[in-house]
Amino acid sequence: MSPTSQPVAVIALHGGAGTLTRRAITPAQQSLYRETLTQILQAGQALLAQGASALDAVTEAVRLLEECPLFNAGKGAVYTSEARHELDACVMRGSDLASGAVAGVRCLRNPVLAARAVLASGSPVLLIGEGAERFALARGCEAVAPDWFGTAERLAQLHSVQASAGQAPALDHDAQNLLAALPTSPLDERSKFGTVGAVALDAQGHLAAATSTGGVTNKLPGRVGDSPLVGAGTYANDRTVAVSCTGMGEAFIRALAAHDVSALMDYAGLSLADAAHRVVMDKLPPLGGRGGLIAVDRHGRVALPFNTEGMYRGWARVGAAPRVAIYADEEDGTQP
Ligand code: GLY
Repeated sequence: MSPTSQPVAVIALHGGAGTLTRRAITPAQQSLYRETLTQILQAGQALLAQGASALDAVTEAVRLLEECPLFNAGKGAVYTSEARHELDACVMRGSDLASGAVAGVRCLRNPVLAARAVLASGSPVLLIGEGAERFALARGCEAVAPDWFGTAERLAQLHSVQASAGQAPALDHDAQNLLAALPTSPLDERSKFGTVGAVALDAQGHLAAATSTGGVTNKLPGRVGDSPLVGAGTYANDRTVAVSCTGMGEAFIRALAAHDVSALMDYAGLSLADAAHRVVMDKLPPLGGRGGLIAVDRHGRVALPFNTEGMYRGWARVGAAPRVAIYADEEDGTQP
């Protein structure tokens, strides 16, 4: 991009990172993930092509990911140790650092829309639990019964994790069958660090980021990860970059991972590729920070690094075909 030209709008998204089950799944099962990511990218791309803001594009992309039971956010979210759901989400606008987040919500169909409502209010930035639910419902967000989020696969994952942790799982028939069956997803759902997220640059040159998650399987009730925390799992600043992270949240919180990418660019002059690589490959691993991130900078460059075996990811520029990838040996989309 020349200094005077308009940027080409672009959106990137992720659906979690983790270890592989590649040899065990069928091509049809892999295709399901790739096609779903492609369709959601196309939806975000279409919004950007119509002149929508980056904030609207990432909010809609994450809402669609929340609606899809393949990913750990909204419908299909993982269970707490008490076999319930507690959901977290955040949105951030790069033009003015406006942010909104919710944590520990149990009855909101789309936590990202609740986060967006918090952003629209101007203040506060982060609401939790019942207060967040009341706030969002009063602003038109949809309520669902707490069991709406659950799937048989996620319940089986909870039982599997509890069994391997030495806790006595009371496996129901469905769960027994699922655990005995071959994997049905490209990344091992029992060890995947599930989150969904989107980052975008719009035609006006503004950046935005959104992240949503059910957290980690078997988490303590009340545990909050990095996703809803500005600067940890989500960050956007028009001076630098928009970032959405996925991984073991405690490490991403301690590293302030998303903001660190921006700070390395802003204060140390690193390129997006170098800053994102430094955070994911050098800073997070010593903290136990397995996972990755997606990022788009103010010039529209994209980086999607991860330190696990795979990460569900994709990116789409307006006017170009969307690209999706899962494994480490596929094109990663990073531009130097
Ligand atoms: N990265 C999602 C979480 O740890 O909750």
